[in-house]
Amino acid sequence: MMRSSFLFLSRLRWAQSLISRLPPARAMAARFVAGDSLDQAMAVCRTLNGRGLNVSIDFLGESVTRAEEAVRGADEYCRALEQIQANGARANVSVKLTHMGLDLDPDLCLRNVQRIVERARAAGTFVRVDMEDTDHTDRTLAMVSELHREFDNVGTVLQAYLYRTEKDLMALAAKGVPIRLVKGAYQEPPEKAYPRKADVDANYVRLAQRLLDRAATGPAVDGNGRVPPSCAVATHDERMIATARAYATEHGISADHFEFQMIYGVRSQLQDRLASEGYAVRVYVPYGTHWYPYFMRRLAERPANVWFFVSSLFKR
Ligand code: FDA
Repeated sequence: MMRSSFLFLSRLRWAQSLISRLPPARAMAARFVAGDSLDQAMAVCRTLNGRGLNVSIDFLGESVTRAEEAVRGADEYCRALEQIQANGARANVSVKLTHMGLDLDPDLCLRNVQRIVERARAAGTFVRVDMEDTDHTDRTLAMVSELHREFDNVGTVLQAYLYRTEKDLMALAAKGVPIRLVKGAYQEPPEKAYPRKADVDANYVRLAQRLLDRAATGPAVDGNGRVPPSCAVATHDERMIATARAYATEHGISADHFEFQMIYGVRSQLQDRLASEGYAVRVYVPYGTHWYPYFMRRLAERPANVWFFVSSLFKR
């Protein structure tokens, strides 16, 4: 109920203009967002790299309504890639197709993402196309497959809450597309997604095992922390992580054939612990002023965040 309300609010423009102006909301969003500027994102990236953690930088934005916004978004990603290269950062980037104009003009979107992927290739790094709600799943998979025919430094994300995901995983794996596995962060109807968390978790375990099987024969983690292996287990759920580790050990899949991924501001001690145990860990680091929908999804993921947020609104 609480999750649905926050995911509903995340899509409302009036709620966005109201809530994103509240100082307590801005203050709490800062836990999950590196800052407004690329310089701030690069500073966080340096700190995380210094702790032995790799990074994926996300310039916040989604569902743009004007072509100029999409082009500006792509320009900013190219700047971020220049900075990654210039600073020798152990980082790649994550991009949302609705930020690049998917809903406005698919050709414009493709050109924007192509430009980013080309720039990333020149910087020796990688582009992860985030997965959005199911209105965009088919179009995202089609565009990623098209890009992957030309570029090997692009991958995407699959969501364990969707019934369709095992089929998508097998199809992408056959094409060699790198996959980040997540549980799924959007509001989806029961015809498309498991409504019960226990079923999502069980599917996550099953799919992570399929991905790890594939990782065993895929490329290993690269030395510069930019290009990920074919399998990324992206979760903060210690049970999922323990199960993936046990499965890898049992099947002789070495730790350099997969990586764990987590979000900036969530379970940072767990990130450090896994890295100190020799696992590759990548932290998803968003920056920019368009933080509202991202922040609302983070609130929806954890009821404790919501209580903390609501009580902060009433504190002076
Ligand atoms: P779960 O929700 O069961 O949480 C397990 C534990 O982790 C919680 O008990 C809590 O301790 C901690 N936790 C989780 N979320 C928290 C939060 N927001 N604040 C504080 N603690 C929290 N989704 C999507 O649909 N498309 C995408 O492209 C991506 N991309 C992506 C990248 C990366 C690197 C990650 C880690 C996640 C995503 N996601 C995503 C989000 C994903 O779908 C999912 O909503 C969150 O990861 C939360 O699910 P968990 O797997 O962490 O498990």
